[in-house]
Amino acid sequence: MNHLIDILQLSTQEIDELVEKAKDIIANPEAYAHKCDGKILATLFFEPSTRTRLSFESAMLSLGGKTLGFSSASSSSAAKGESVADTVRTVSCYADIIAMRHPKEGAPLVASMRSEVPVINAGDGGHNHPTQTLTDLLTINREKGRFNDLTVGFCGDLKFGRTVHSLISALSRYTGIKFVLVSPEELKLPSYVKNEVIKKNNIPYEQTTDLESVMPELDILYMTRVQRERFFNEEDYLRLKDSYILTPEKLKNAKQDLCIMHPLPRVNEISVAVDDDPRACYFKQVRNGRYIRMALIMKMLGIE
Ligand code: NCD
Repeated sequence: MNHLIDILQLSTQEIDELVEKAKDIIANPEAYAHKCDGKILATLFFEPSTRTRLSFESAMLSLGGKTLGFSSASSSSAAKGESVADTVRTVSCYADIIAMRHPKEGAPLVASMRSEVPVINAGDGGHNHPTQTLTDLLTINREKGRFNDLTVGFCGDLKFGRTVHSLISALSRYTGIKFVLVSPEELKLPSYVKNEVIKKNNIPYEQTTDLESVMPELDILYMTRVQRERFFNEEDYLRLKDSYILTPEKLKNAKQDLCIMHPLPRVNEISVAVDDDPRACYFKQVRNGRYIRMALIMKMLGIE
Protein backbone atom coordinates (compact mmCIF):
# COMPACT_ATOMS: atom_id res chain seq x y z
CA MET A 1 0.00 0.00 0.00
CA ASN A 2 1.44 3.40 -0.83
CA HIS A 3 0.80 6.15 1.71
CA LEU A 4 2.20 9.69 1.89
CA ILE A 5 3.07 10.52 5.47
CA ASP A 6 6.44 12.27 5.03
CA ILE A 7 7.66 14.17 1.98
CA LEU A 8 10.89 12.13 1.94
CA GLN A 9 8.88 9.06 0.96
CA LEU A 10 8.88 10.60 -2.52
CA SER A 11 12.16 10.50 -4.45
CA THR A 12 13.31 13.67 -6.23
CA GLN A 13 12.42 11.92 -9.48
CA GLU A 14 8.87 11.28 -8.25
CA ILE A 15 8.61 14.93 -7.20
CA ASP A 16 9.76 16.03 -10.65
CA GLU A 17 7.15 13.76 -12.22
CA LEU A 18 4.38 15.14 -10.00
CA VAL A 19 5.42 18.72 -10.80
CA GLU A 20 5.47 17.98 -14.54
CA LYS A 21 2.10 16.22 -14.29
CA ALA A 22 0.61 19.22 -12.44
CA LYS A 23 1.90 21.55 -15.15
CA ASP A 24 0.34 19.34 -17.79
CA ILE A 25 -2.97 19.39 -15.88
CA ILE A 26 -2.80 23.20 -15.79
CA ALA A 27 -2.22 23.26 -19.56
CA ASN A 28 -4.81 20.57 -20.45
CA PRO A 29 -7.40 20.27 -17.67
CA GLU A 30 -10.01 18.63 -19.91
CA ALA A 31 -7.69 15.67 -20.52
CA TYR A 32 -7.94 14.85 -16.80
CA ALA A 33 -11.64 15.52 -16.20
CA HIS A 34 -12.57 11.81 -16.05
CA LYS A 35 -9.40 10.23 -14.72
CA CYS A 36 -11.00 9.40 -11.37
CA ASP A 37 -14.54 8.61 -12.48
CA GLY A 38 -16.11 6.30 -9.91
CA LYS A 39 -13.42 6.94 -7.26
CA ILE A 40 -14.08 8.41 -3.81
CA LEU A 41 -11.77 10.58 -1.71
CA ALA A 42 -12.44 10.86 2.03
CA THR A 43 -11.23 13.95 3.87
CA LEU A 44 -10.90 13.28 7.61
CA PHE A 45 -10.09 16.60 9.23
CA PHE A 46 -9.76 16.51 13.01
CA GLU A 47 -8.37 20.07 12.86
CA PRO A 48 -9.55 23.24 11.08
CA SER A 49 -8.65 23.81 7.43
CA THR A 50 -9.76 25.87 4.46
CA ARG A 51 -7.20 25.35 1.69
CA THR A 52 -5.98 21.85 2.34
CA ARG A 53 -9.40 20.22 2.68
CA LEU A 54 -11.10 22.19 -0.07
CA SER A 55 -8.18 21.82 -2.47
CA PHE A 56 -8.24 18.05 -1.95
CA GLU A 57 -11.97 18.05 -2.63
CA SER A 58 -11.63 20.37 -5.61
CA ALA A 59 -8.82 18.17 -6.95
CA MET A 60 -10.90 14.99 -6.73
CA LEU A 61 -13.99 16.66 -8.21
CA SER A 62 -11.87 18.06 -11.06
CA LEU A 63 -10.73 14.51 -11.83
CA GLY A 64 -14.34 13.30 -12.05
CA GLY A 65 -14.30 11.59 -8.65
CA LYS A 66 -16.45 12.20 -5.59
CA THR A 67 -15.71 13.17 -2.01
CA LEU A 68 -17.02 12.60 1.49
CA GLY A 69 -15.70 13.38 4.94
CA PHE A 70 -15.86 15.52 8.03
CA SER A 71 -14.25 18.84 8.84
CA SER A 72 -14.01 18.70 12.62
CA ALA A 73 -13.39 16.06 15.25
CA SER A 74 -16.57 17.17 17.04
CA SER A 75 -18.76 16.04 14.14
CA SER A 76 -17.18 12.58 13.95
CA SER A 77 -17.22 9.63 16.34
CA ALA A 78 -13.87 10.88 17.68
CA ALA A 79 -16.13 12.97 19.93
CA LYS A 80 -17.49 9.69 21.37
CA GLY A 81 -14.00 8.38 21.98
CA GLU A 82 -13.36 6.34 18.83
CA SER A 83 -9.68 5.75 18.03
CA VAL A 84 -8.04 7.04 14.84
CA ALA A 85 -7.29 3.41 13.94
CA ASP A 86 -10.97 2.42 14.09
CA THR A 87 -12.12 5.56 12.27
CA VAL A 88 -9.73 4.94 9.40
CA ARG A 89 -10.57 1.24 9.19
CA THR A 90 -14.20 2.24 8.89
CA VAL A 91 -13.65 4.94 6.30
CA SER A 92 -11.48 2.67 4.19
CA CYS A 93 -14.68 0.65 3.63
CA TYR A 94 -16.28 3.76 2.08
CA ALA A 95 -13.50 5.45 0.11
CA ASP A 96 -10.62 4.67 -2.28
CA ILE A 97 -8.18 7.18 -0.79
CA ILE A 98 -8.03 9.18 2.45
CA ALA A 99 -6.57 12.59 3.31
CA MET A 100 -6.25 13.06 7.06
CA ARG A 101 -5.36 16.04 9.24
CA HIS A 102 -4.91 15.57 12.97
CA PRO A 103 -3.59 17.68 15.87
CA LYS A 104 -1.48 14.78 17.16
CA GLU A 105 1.91 14.21 15.57
CA GLY A 106 2.02 10.73 14.05
CA ALA A 107 -1.76 10.16 13.86
CA PRO A 108 -1.81 9.79 10.05
CA LEU A 109 1.07 7.30 10.31
CA VAL A 110 -0.95 5.23 12.79
CA ALA A 111 -3.96 5.54 10.49
CA SER A 112 -1.93 4.32 7.51
CA MET A 113 -1.09 1.12 9.40
CA ARG A 114 -4.77 0.29 9.79
CA SER A 115 -6.11 1.54 6.49
CA GLU A 116 -7.01 -0.63 3.54
CA VAL A 117 -6.63 2.32 1.14
CA PRO A 118 -3.85 4.92 0.65
CA VAL A 119 -3.62 7.56 3.40
CA ILE A 120 -2.24 11.05 2.80
CA ASN A 121 -1.01 13.14 5.72
CA ALA A 122 -2.76 16.50 5.39
CA GLY A 123 -0.93 17.92 8.41
CA ASP A 124 -0.10 16.27 11.76
CA GLY A 125 0.29 18.66 14.68
CA GLY A 126 3.51 20.65 14.59
CA HIS A 127 5.25 17.88 12.64
CA ASN A 128 4.79 17.53 8.87
CA HIS A 129 2.62 18.65 5.97
CA PRO A 130 3.85 16.90 2.81
CA THR A 131 1.12 18.05 0.41
CA GLN A 132 1.68 21.69 1.33
CA THR A 133 5.31 21.02 0.45
CA LEU A 134 4.32 19.65 -2.96
CA THR A 135 2.27 22.82 -3.43
CA ASP A 136 5.29 24.91 -2.41
CA LEU A 137 7.60 22.97 -4.74
CA LEU A 138 5.27 23.45 -7.70
CA THR A 139 5.19 27.16 -6.88
CA ILE A 140 8.99 27.38 -6.65
CA ASN A 141 9.34 25.48 -9.92
CA ARG A 142 6.86 27.74 -11.74
CA GLU A 143 8.27 30.97 -10.30
CA LYS A 144 11.98 30.18 -10.30
CA GLY A 145 12.30 27.39 -12.84
CA ARG A 146 14.61 25.39 -10.55
CA PHE A 147 15.07 23.77 -7.14
CA ASN A 148 18.85 24.25 -7.06
CA ASP A 149 20.91 27.32 -6.14
CA LEU A 150 18.36 29.09 -4.01
CA THR A 151 18.69 31.03 -0.77
CA VAL A 152 15.47 30.36 1.07
CA GLY A 153 14.42 32.41 4.08
CA PHE A 154 11.87 31.01 6.54
CA CYS A 155 10.34 33.59 8.85
CA GLY A 156 7.98 33.36 11.82
CA ASP A 157 7.05 30.28 13.81
CA LEU A 158 9.72 27.79 12.79
CA LYS A 159 9.12 25.71 15.91
CA PHE A 160 5.52 24.67 15.38
CA GLY A 161 5.20 25.42 11.64
CA ARG A 162 4.84 21.97 10.09
CA THR A 163 4.95 23.35 6.55
CA VAL A 164 8.44 24.71 7.31
CA HIS A 165 9.70 21.34 8.56
CA SER A 166 8.49 19.49 5.48
CA LEU A 167 9.75 22.08 2.99
CA ILE A 168 13.19 22.16 4.62
CA SER A 169 13.35 18.35 4.33
CA ALA A 170 12.38 18.45 0.68
CA LEU A 171 14.77 21.24 -0.31
CA SER A 172 17.73 19.71 1.49
CA ARG A 173 18.07 17.13 -1.28
CA TYR A 174 18.96 19.76 -3.89
CA THR A 175 22.33 21.43 -4.50
CA GLY A 176 23.30 25.04 -3.87
CA ILE A 177 20.58 25.53 -1.23
CA LYS A 178 21.11 27.89 1.68
CA PHE A 179 18.59 28.35 4.48
CA VAL A 180 18.10 31.58 6.41
CA LEU A 181 16.08 30.93 9.55
CA VAL A 182 14.39 34.02 10.97
CA SER A 183 12.40 33.66 14.19
CA PRO A 184 12.12 34.86 17.76
CA GLU A 185 14.35 32.88 20.16
CA GLU A 186 11.33 30.96 21.50
CA LEU A 187 10.17 29.85 18.05
CA LYS A 188 13.43 28.58 16.58
CA LEU A 189 13.52 25.54 14.31
CA PRO A 190 13.37 22.33 16.43
CA SER A 191 16.80 20.77 16.91
CA TYR A 192 15.66 17.50 15.34
CA VAL A 193 15.10 19.30 12.03
CA LYS A 194 18.31 21.31 12.36
CA ASN A 195 20.46 18.29 13.23
CA GLU A 196 18.82 15.50 11.28
CA VAL A 197 18.09 17.45 8.14
CA ILE A 198 20.16 20.63 7.75
CA LYS A 199 23.42 19.64 9.46
CA LYS A 200 23.32 16.04 8.31
CA ASN A 201 23.14 17.19 4.69
CA ASN A 202 25.82 19.88 5.23
CA ILE A 203 23.49 22.64 4.10
CA PRO A 204 24.75 26.14 4.87
CA TYR A 205 22.36 28.02 7.13
CA GLU A 206 22.11 31.22 9.08
CA GLN A 207 19.91 31.87 12.12
CA THR A 208 18.79 35.35 13.07
CA THR A 209 16.00 37.30 14.70
CA ASP A 210 16.31 40.19 12.22
CA LEU A 211 14.45 39.83 8.93
CA GLU A 212 15.52 43.11 7.34
CA SER A 213 19.24 42.42 7.66
CA VAL A 214 18.98 39.22 5.60
CA MET A 215 16.36 40.40 3.10
CA PRO A 216 18.82 41.34 0.29
CA GLU A 217 20.20 37.80 -0.03
CA LEU A 218 16.90 35.93 -0.32
CA ASP A 219 15.53 34.31 -3.48
CA ILE A 220 12.51 33.01 -1.59
CA LEU A 221 10.91 34.35 1.57
CA TYR A 222 8.56 31.85 3.22
CA MET A 223 6.48 33.69 5.82
CA THR A 224 4.49 31.79 8.45
CA ARG A 225 1.82 32.42 11.03
CA VAL A 226 2.53 32.02 14.74
CA GLN A 227 0.71 28.75 15.51
CA ARG A 228 -1.58 29.86 18.32
CA GLU A 229 -3.21 26.43 18.74
CA ARG A 230 0.12 24.82 19.64
CA PHE A 231 1.00 27.23 22.46
CA PHE A 232 0.68 26.20 26.08
CA ASN A 233 -0.41 29.65 27.18
CA GLU A 234 -2.12 32.61 25.54
CA GLU A 235 0.29 35.09 27.14
CA ASP A 236 3.25 33.74 25.16
CA TYR A 237 1.20 33.75 21.97
CA LEU A 238 0.17 37.38 22.46
CA ARG A 239 3.76 38.40 23.12
CA LEU A 240 5.10 36.65 20.02
CA LYS A 241 2.28 36.88 17.48
CA ASP A 242 3.36 40.11 15.82
CA SER A 243 7.11 39.45 15.87
CA TYR A 244 7.30 39.89 12.11
CA ILE A 245 5.00 41.89 9.89
CA LEU A 246 6.11 42.10 6.27
CA THR A 247 5.40 45.53 4.76
CA PRO A 248 6.35 47.18 1.43
CA GLU A 249 8.87 49.22 3.43
CA LYS A 250 10.69 46.07 4.62
CA LEU A 251 10.91 44.82 1.03
CA LYS A 252 12.89 47.88 -0.11
CA ASN A 253 16.19 46.01 -0.12
CA ALA A 254 14.82 42.71 -1.40
CA LYS A 255 15.74 41.22 -4.78
CA GLN A 256 13.58 42.23 -7.71
CA ASP A 257 12.79 38.58 -8.38
CA LEU A 258 12.17 37.58 -4.77
CA CYS A 259 9.33 35.07 -4.44
CA ILE A 260 7.22 35.74 -1.33
CA MET A 261 5.42 32.64 -0.16
CA HIS A 262 3.06 31.80 2.73
CA PRO A 263 1.09 28.58 3.23
CA LEU A 264 -1.80 30.69 4.55
CA PRO A 265 -3.89 31.41 6.57
CA ARG A 266 -2.28 34.80 7.11
CA VAL A 267 -3.09 36.57 10.34
CA ASN A 268 -0.96 39.71 10.61
CA GLU A 269 2.41 38.67 9.30
CA ILE A 270 2.04 40.03 5.77
CA SER A 271 0.48 43.44 5.38
CA VAL A 272 -2.28 43.45 2.73
CA ALA A 273 -0.31 46.26 1.07
CA VAL A 274 2.18 43.60 -0.04
CA ASP A 275 -0.53 41.69 -1.97
CA ASP A 276 -0.19 43.94 -5.01
CA ASP A 277 3.57 43.52 -5.19
CA PRO A 278 4.38 41.29 -8.20
CA ARG A 279 6.69 39.31 -5.91
CA ALA A 280 3.75 38.16 -3.74
CA CYS A 281 3.17 34.52 -4.72
CA TYR A 282 0.92 33.25 -1.91
CA PHE A 283 -2.34 33.29 -3.83
CA LYS A 284 -0.65 31.63 -6.80
CA GLN A 285 0.49 29.04 -4.28
CA VAL A 286 -3.15 28.41 -3.32
CA ARG A 287 -4.04 27.73 -6.95
CA ASN A 288 -1.07 25.39 -7.36
CA GLY A 289 -2.31 23.35 -4.40
CA ARG A 290 -5.29 22.12 -6.38
CA TYR A 291 -3.26 20.94 -9.39
CA ILE A 292 -0.49 19.21 -7.50
CA ARG A 293 -3.10 17.34 -5.43
CA MET A 294 -4.76 16.22 -8.67
CA ALA A 295 -1.40 14.82 -9.77
CA LEU A 296 -0.86 13.19 -6.37
CA ILE A 297 -4.30 11.55 -6.18
CA MET A 298 -3.78 10.04 -9.63
CA LYS A 299 -0.35 8.74 -8.72
CA MET A 300 -1.53 7.19 -5.47
CA LEU A 301 -4.48 5.52 -7.16
CA GLY A 302 -2.16 4.19 -9.86
CA ILE A 303 -3.97 6.13 -12.62
CA GLU A 304 -1.82 7.17 -15.59
C1 NCD B 1 -0.81 25.49 7.14
C2 NCD B 1 -1.05 24.33 8.07
O1 NCD B 1 -2.19 23.90 8.26
O2 NCD B 1 -0.06 23.85 8.58
N1 NCD B 1 -1.89 25.81 6.34
C3 NCD B 1 -2.13 25.09 5.19
O3 NCD B 1 -2.29 23.90 5.21
N2 NCD B 1 -2.15 25.78 4.05
C4 NCD B 1 -0.22 26.65 7.81
C5 NCD B 1 -0.88 27.22 9.04
O4 NCD B 1 -1.90 26.75 9.50
O5 NCD B 1 -0.34 28.21 9.52
